[in-house]
Amino acid sequence: MRVLLVGGAGYIGTHVALAFQDRGDTVGILDNLSTGLKSNVLDGSEFYEGDIMDTQCLDRVFAKGWDAVVHLAAFKAAGESMLKPEIYATNNITGSLNLINACLKHNVMRFILSSSAAVYGEPVYLPLDEAHPKHPTNYYGYTKLAIEQNLEWFDRLKGLKFVALRYFNAAGYDVSGKMLGLEKKPANLIPLVMETAIGKRPNLLVFGNDYPTSDGTGVRDYVHVTDLADAHVSATDYLVAKNTSLTVNLGSGSGVSVQEIIDKSREITGRDIPAQYVDRRPGDPAKLVASSSLAEKELGWKARYSDIETILRTTWEVYLADRKKSVITS
Ligand code: WQD
Repeated sequence: MRVLLVGGAGYIGTHVALAFQDRGDTVGILDNLSTGLKSNVLDGSEFYEGDIMDTQCLDRVFAKGWDAVVHLAAFKAAGESMLKPEIYATNNITGSLNLINACLKHNVMRFILSSSAAVYGEPVYLPLDEAHPKHPTNYYGYTKLAIEQNLEWFDRLKGLKFVALRYFNAAGYDVSGKMLGLEKKPANLIPLVMETAIGKRPNLLVFGNDYPTSDGTGVRDYVHVTDLADAHVSATDYLVAKNTSLTVNLGSGSGVSVQEIIDKSREITGRDIPAQYVDRRPGDPAKLVASSSLAEKELGWKARYSDIETILRTTWEVYLADRKKSVITS
């Protein structure tokens, strides 16, 4: 198949590209390189530099002919979305509508959406299943919900079939050791822990240790990016086989606390990783854990690499290798 990955030069996109290439598909990558890296673009893929706000660019790229499009191009910093909702509205919502229009115009009728657990907001029960109420507590989560709801309408009115993949906390790096998907300016916990371990930052700020959890720190469901990537391939095959839309959670099903991550990271890296305990970050739920039984049932998907040891070890290996590379080239 010919699969177009929009945002495919990013952290997750690069791993998704590898998963499609590994099983023999032709991968196109459209990316504006605002956060993605040209060095992440895999050999053998067709690269197009462009922006989802540029509808003429979309016309040119979509005219190449694709069997499916995977939409991974979004701003994803929940905190930033509360300060600059206008750029999230434009890029995430208008940009996605531009993609949907390009699909209809060029008859690309299979759409895989990178969605997020942020659509749920504060959990009223755990683990979170797909029927859980959707009350996003940040504007980023709202943009993902708005895109999902638009896709429901375009399925109903125009027959555009989609699979929305609600990622929980994406983490880890390629298990075969390829240095894929390095992030320019990471904002999530685990990259920040590793930057502290490698010495790029003096300490880690722990946002709250007074939550009602085992050790008082926030609990999240970390899912390995290779597992996420496999789900995109399964979701595309699902659309080819069933031609029916679907929305599923992607998580490991187990929760890990910030403190557990710090302790395990100290063990794996052998580094001190100084941590400073500060106030809670507004909008952070105490605990988020996924039920992914629907993905297992409909996609035959199961997280294989999402144990915290593999996630932390593969991440540390990439940070070490990157540090060695920068020492050599400096
Ligand atoms: C994880 C835990 C923090 C940083 C966000 C988005 C979500 C998704 C994943 C895209 C929390 C704590 C963090 C730090 C800390 N993004 N933390 N110190 O907030 O669960 O989810 O990223 O889909 O939509 O909201 O991820 O990595 O920011 O935080 O203590 O410097 O680590 O409080 O408990 P989060 P995170």
